[in-house]
Amino acid sequence: NAIYFAGLSGIVPEWPVDHATLRARAEAHWSPSVRDYVQGGCGDERTQDINATAFAHWGMVPRMMVDTATRDLSATLFGHRLPSPLFMAPIGVNGICTDDGHGDLAAAQASSATGVPFCASTLANDPLEAVRAACGEIPALFQLYTSRNPDVAASIVARAEAAGYAALVVTLDTWVTGWRPRDLNTGNFPQLRGHVLANYFGDPAFRALLTRPPEEDPQAAVATWAATFGRVLTWDDMAWLRSLTRMPIILKGICHPDDAHRAIDCGADGIYVSNHGGRQANGGIAAIDLLPAVAEAVAGRVPVLFDSGVRSGTDLIKAVALGADLVGLGRPYCYGLALGGAAGCAHVLKCVLAEADLLMAVNGWPTLAAVRAAGARRV
Ligand code: FNR
Repeated sequence: NAIYFAGLSGIVPEWPVDHATLRARAEAHWSPSVRDYVQGGCGDERTQDINATAFAHWGMVPRMMVDTATRDLSATLFGHRLPSPLFMAPIGVNGICTDDGHGDLAAAQASSATGVPFCASTLANDPLEAVRAACGEIPALFQLYTSRNPDVAASIVARAEAAGYAALVVTLDTWVTGWRPRDLNTGNFPQLRGHVLANYFGDPAFRALLTRPPEEDPQAAVATWAATFGRVLTWDDMAWLRSLTRMPIILKGICHPDDAHRAIDCGADGIYVSNHGGRQANGGIAAIDLLPAVAEAVAGRVPVLFDSGVRSGTDLIKAVALGADLVGLGRPYCYGLALGGAAGCAHVLKCVLAEADLLMAVNGWPTLAAVRAAGARRV
């Protein structure tokens, strides 16, 4: 709201408030390789593009004469009360977004400053313990890329639980990286550079696989990481995943209602609808168009998380209207990290929330329940 009222008073904000300008500024700020890594997607990037544009095919109808002088955007996740349904989606290699290489710590600080939870990636630059600590009082999620070495997977999960993460987000669609021409054309896979593998290099089970420690032979450590990355998970693995932790388990990448049913039958505590921002598979359907059927299948049994294509507060509200309990912001917060580190990231989150809040005020929806009841129409 401070940003909004400042704008109304003629004060120019430090960073842009809209997605297109933010994105352009961040792209200009980054080197071509960082830009290509963050912005790139699978194939001709059609799925990536329609993730965002498909929001325009959903519309909402306002209601009048409702008291919206105050709005309640609060949400809950596994007993944690959150100020809003917004969270930061897991972005591996976040460190390359900021000039100092500590994008994960900066995102965690932005979480602490705004109350918007951060989902830390296994492929973070900063160790998961430090990231959790930087989130302060705000609950954080930990995203798991499941190592093919079960001891390494178990060790990382145990560390996440010990560090106090509120839930484990298991990404299902990325045991191997998708066909990403921008990165393939340039040989640009920053995760192959050792500095982003903080969660592995400090891990006792990972270090036990090495003949020399990563500090002495980083190249061999990276090769060992690459050779053990990405276990192919099937439903049979759910019991094993469950045995690793008491944290709630959220499955990320569920797009089909039947998979949602199966996930809940297998004990999943949360369903995360996402097509990985179009980075993993091309030829798909916009994630927002997949959300209603999955939410209908889940039918309130477990929380539904959503990401892929969210660019604004309006998109956030549309995702809630279409069945999401929590909504993940992806690339846009990277732009904030690029332009202003933790403060820039917090600015982006605040802009999304301010737009969402204002939309609820204007459209006669004092609560998220009212947003859900209003729904969104395909137009
Ligand atoms: C991702 N995403 C991702 N997902 C995940 O589970 N673990 C990870 O480490 C990463 N890493 C990652 C890096 C980059 C640069 C991007 C852009 C994305 C996917 C992410 O969580 C989310 O699904 C997408 O970002 C959503 O798409 P949009 O809204 O960012 O386009």
